[in-house]
Amino acid sequence: MKTIRDIDIKDKIVLVRADYNVPIENGKITSDLRIRASLPTINYLLENGAKKIVIISHLCRPDGKPSEEFSLAPVAKAIEKLLPKEKVEFKAKNAGKFDEKARIALLENLRFDAREEENSEDFIKEIIDFVKPDFYVQDGFAVVHRAHASTSAVAKFLPVYAGLLVEKEVKELSGVIKNPEHPFVAVIGGSKVDDKTPLIKKFLSLADKIIVGGKIAADGYTAEDDRIYVAEDFDENSAGEKLDVGPLATIQIAKYLEDAKTIVWNGLLGKAEDPAYATASILTAEIIGKNQDTKSVICGGDTTGFVEELMQDHKDLSYSLISTGGGAALEYLSGKNLPGLAVIEK
Ligand code: 3PG
Repeated sequence: MKTIRDIDIKDKIVLVRADYNVPIENGKITSDLRIRASLPTINYLLENGAKKIVIISHLCRPDGKPSEEFSLAPVAKAIEKLLPKEKVEFKAKNAGKFDEKARIALLENLRFDAREEENSEDFIKEIIDFVKPDFYVQDGFAVVHRAHASTSAVAKFLPVYAGLLVEKEVKELSGVIKNPEHPFVAVIGGSKVDDKTPLIKKFLSLADKIIVGGKIAADGYTAEDDRIYVAEDFDENSAGEKLDVGPLATIQIAKYLEDAKTIVWNGLLGKAEDPAYATASILTAEIIGKNQDTKSVICGGDTTGFVEELMQDHKDLSYSLISTGGGAALEYLSGKNLPGLAVIEK
């Protein structure tokens, strides 16, 4: 995979695909993980003399209709805050000339036009005609599992290079799939049960132990292999709903994690947004984050958000990769070919 390190950046106009699909509540960004994760690429391009960096992204699923609710305007402001020396211009794709004083521009939500998700060549060509880039950088790891105009059709018109975030995510995730150190433990939880069965199957060919918690365990998942450990007891609310794995399972999980040399964690073990049911997830995050000899990959939006919040109060926790890719990371780990990676120059 060729990256921006392989090419001459000086005086070039660069079109960068980021994934700024970030949670926004009442106009406020509640997790800026994906924005911060895009900074190494932006800084690299700035430091290496790029003339202009034009960033494109989607936000949520606005069904091809423009709306203030799904505008990327708050993201432009957030980038400017993180890069105080830079002016960040925010504009629609056909809104007049670029401001020469701003080296960075962010275009409005790609999904305000239905042709983005239709993988339309005409749509991406309109953007290219407007920006006139020398090349394209794929740095939106979280969207590389989508064959959309800005991730797939774009390669018909421009050479595609990986940004530093895509490079890092692929390096860490492929390391886990290709040559993990053993014991390799996968922890699978969360509430989206359908996504998890293929993942458990994939990990059967890789991991020594697969721990299953979260809703999939509470719903009574039956292990078809003795390397799969399904939580055996649960903390319940007064209505009898199983909302966290129980003390016996927590002790067992801790034992498996303490010996592990590679850990992938996707999905919280309980309904951890409620502190009463966060015990097992907190303990898991602490054991993994304190074990510096272990290669650890955290993925899935809820899990990464949870871990990031915990890290604010626990500065001793660190992980090899807190993946920005929800679905993309899962599809990558499941061994699927991802369209947004397939088009990167070799
Ligand atoms: C994500 O958050 O997983 C990506 O931004 C992709 O979004 P999508 O599932 O709406 O395509």
